[in-house]
Amino acid sequence: MKLALVGKGGVGKTTLVAALAKRLAVLEQPVVAVDADPDGNLASALGVPEDAVPEPIAHMRDLILQRTGAEDRGAGLMFKLNPKVDDLPDRFSVDTGGIKLLVLGTVESGGKGCMCPEGALLKALMQHLLLRLDDHVILDMEAGLEHMGRASATGVDAMITVVEPGMRSVQTATRIQKLAREIGIKSAFVVANKITEGYELDTLKRALSGQLVIGMLPYHAELARADLEGRPVDINDRILAEAVNRIAETLEQRLDNQHITAG
Ligand SMILES: Nc1ncnc2c1ncn2[C@@H]1O[C@H](COP(=O)(O)OP(=O)(O)O)[C@@H](O)[C@H]1O
Ligand SMILES: [Mg+2]
Repeated sequence: MKLALVGKGGVGKTTLVAALAKRLAVLEQPVVAVDADPDGNLASALGVPEDAVPEPIAHMRDLILQRTGAEDRGAGLMFKLNPKVDDLPDRFSVDTGGIKLLVLGTVESGGKGCMCPEGALLKALMQHLLLRLDDHVILDMEAGLEHMGRASATGVDAMITVVEPGMRSVQTATRIQKLAREIGIKSAFVVANKITEGYELDTLKRALSGQLVIGMLPYHAELARADLEGRPVDINDRILAEAVNRIAETLEQRLDNQHITAG
């Protein structure tokens, strides 16, 4: 499964990515958790100690220059658009309880879809992870999909937009949904997070008209407390485990049905 999690800041993307990845690790399935949020903190949600967090790939100047063969030729910058990347997931990820954490970092470009050596390397790496690698891949994205190209989008089995009780997160979800269609994401689902009562879920569903809500995570004070105290997401927590199992199973069923329909 190749999943991309998106949604407004603070809705719970990183929490859900960590929980889904940990569930797969418990099931002994190979999974790469990718921190693709420039302001990412997936490492801490997974419980990777600060001094073991890998350097973001986008910041590895020498690697980028070496792989893209970038050189300044006066008239313009020349570099390879298809650098070798297949060794990078193993070389630059850190293993945490059976999950490989890969940190991508930011491309300093000031524009989207930067045509620079860093952008070329990250794009090639994203395509490798989504189109060629056999492991499950779960992407913890920044709010939207702005930096995902069409080629990568075709490798995403499902985009999950996280929303919380609040119309601002719904507005973000609706904007992302439109973008997802434009770049060719096959399936888009919504997970409602931080739900305390049925009224909230009903209101969100109504506001998300047309977007498929496949599950929800209740507001769970232990999750907020864990973050406050700098502790990772704990998949042994019964409430979290049950909610995440339900979400993952619904998702897997949906995707299976789609494959049958498509075949
Ligand atoms: N279901 C929940 N119940 C309570 N707190 C939650 C829940 N989900 C996430 N949180 C808390 O909300 C904050 C933001 O979550 P995070 O996963 O970092 O969001 P994002 O990655 O979308 O910015 C964190 O402090 C997290 O612990
Ligand atoms: Mg996050």
